Amino acid sequence: MYLAPLHSFGFPSSAKAFLSINNTTHISAELAGLGNAAFYVLGEGSNTVFLEDFQGTVIKPNFLGIEIIESATHYQLKVGSGENWHDLVIWCLEKGIDGFENLALIPGTVGAAPIQNIGAYGVEVEKFIHSVEYYDLVDQTQQSLNAKDCEFDYRDSVFKHRLTNRVIITSVTFSIPKDWQAVAHYGELKELSNPTAKELFNKVVEVRQSKLPDPKKIGNAGSFFKNPHIAKDHYLQLQQHWPTMPSYPIDNTTIKVPAAWLIDQLGFKGKKLGGIACHPKQALVLTNDGTGSGTELLQLAREIKQAVRNEFSIELENEVRLIGKTGPIDL
Ligand code: EPU
Repeated sequence: MYLAPLHSFGFPSSAKAFLSINNTTHISAELAGLGNAAFYVLGEGSNTVFLEDFQGTVIKPNFLGIEIIESATHYQLKVGSGENWHDLVIWCLEKGIDGFENLALIPGTVGAAPIQNIGAYGVEVEKFIHSVEYYDLVDQTQQSLNAKDCEFDYRDSVFKHRLTNRVIITSVTFSIPKDWQAVAHYGELKELSNPTAKELFNKVVEVRQSKLPDPKKIGNAGSFFKNPHIAKDHYLQLQQHWPTMPSYPIDNTTIKVPAAWLIDQLGFKGKKLGGIACHPKQALVLTNDGTGSGTELLQLAREIKQAVRNEFSIELENEVRLIGKTGPIDL
C-alpha cells in the first residue's frame, strides 16, 4: 500500500499490508490473518511520519457517527474515532455546544485526540474527555477507560505507554459543560474582549493559518518537538546567559520552555536540508517541499536536537511519531 497520501509529511513510503476497520466483531478474524507481523494504527497521519517502507500492516479505524445525550448541565457526545477532529469542532459550534473552539484546525481524527492529548491556545482535550472506548487486541475484548485512567499529561496518555500498539480506539466520549467560559489568556487571544465561542474559533483559525503551514499544501506534522520541561535551577542558570528566554511555570520546581524559541535562537529558522526545512514562520515545524526524504528529515531533526543539547543542555523529544521499517524509532 502506497502511504504518501496517508501521512501529512507525504514521503513516498509503502506498507506491506493495509486494513480498514469499522466493525469490532471483525477485528479478531481480520487480525488473526496477519499473524505476528508488526502493525501500526493510523488516524489521518497528521502526527505520524513513515520515514521509509514499513514492513508491517497499517490499520485504519473507520468508526463514524456522533451520539448525543443532553442533561440539564452537560452535553455528552460519543464520537466515532474515524471522524475528523476539526469537523467535530465546527459541528459542535453550529449546534451551540461550546468548548472545543480553541482546538480548531488541529489536523487528525477524533480517535487520535486522546492519544497525544491534543492541545492549543490554553486548552487540552483531556478537559472534555469522559471516557475512551477501545478494542484490546491482546485480550480481544471491547473496553472503556475513564478519563482518570487515561493518565493524561502534556501531549501524553496511557495510549503512548502501557497500551501502546495494543488497542484500536473505537470512540471517544466527551462531557461538555453547558456553563461555558471563554479561555482567552493565550497569546493573540488576549486581544479579544469578552469573546463568544465563534469569535475565539475565528481567531484561532486566523492565527493558525498565519503561522502554521497547511499540511495539504506543504508536507508537515505540526510541532515536531515537544516543549521541554526543565528544573527551575537549570532555567535560572540559563537565564543568566539568555535573559529573554520565555518560561511557563509547571509547578514550584519545573519550568516549561518553548522549543521553538530555543531552535530559533540557534538560527535554524528557514534552514533547509534537501527538501526538508525548518519553517520560516514557526521554528518548531519541519516541512517537506515534496522532494524530501526520511533520511534528510532525521538528519535535520538530529542536528537540531544536538545543537539544543550543546547550547542549552536540554534534551528535546520528538512530538511526532516516527515510523521506520519495523515500527516506531527514536531520534
Ligand atoms: N517562538 C519563537 N520562535 C518561533 C516560534 C515561536 O521564539 O519560531 C516563541 C514565541 O515567542 C512564543 C513561544 O515560542 O513565546 C511559543 O510559541 P507558540 O505560541 O507559537 O507555541 P508553541 O509552544 O511553539 C504550542 C503547541 C502547538 C499549539 C501552540 C498554540 C507544542 C509542542 N506545540 O506551540 O501545537 O498550536 O502551542 O497553543 O506544545 C502541535 O502540537 O502540533 C501544535 C501545533
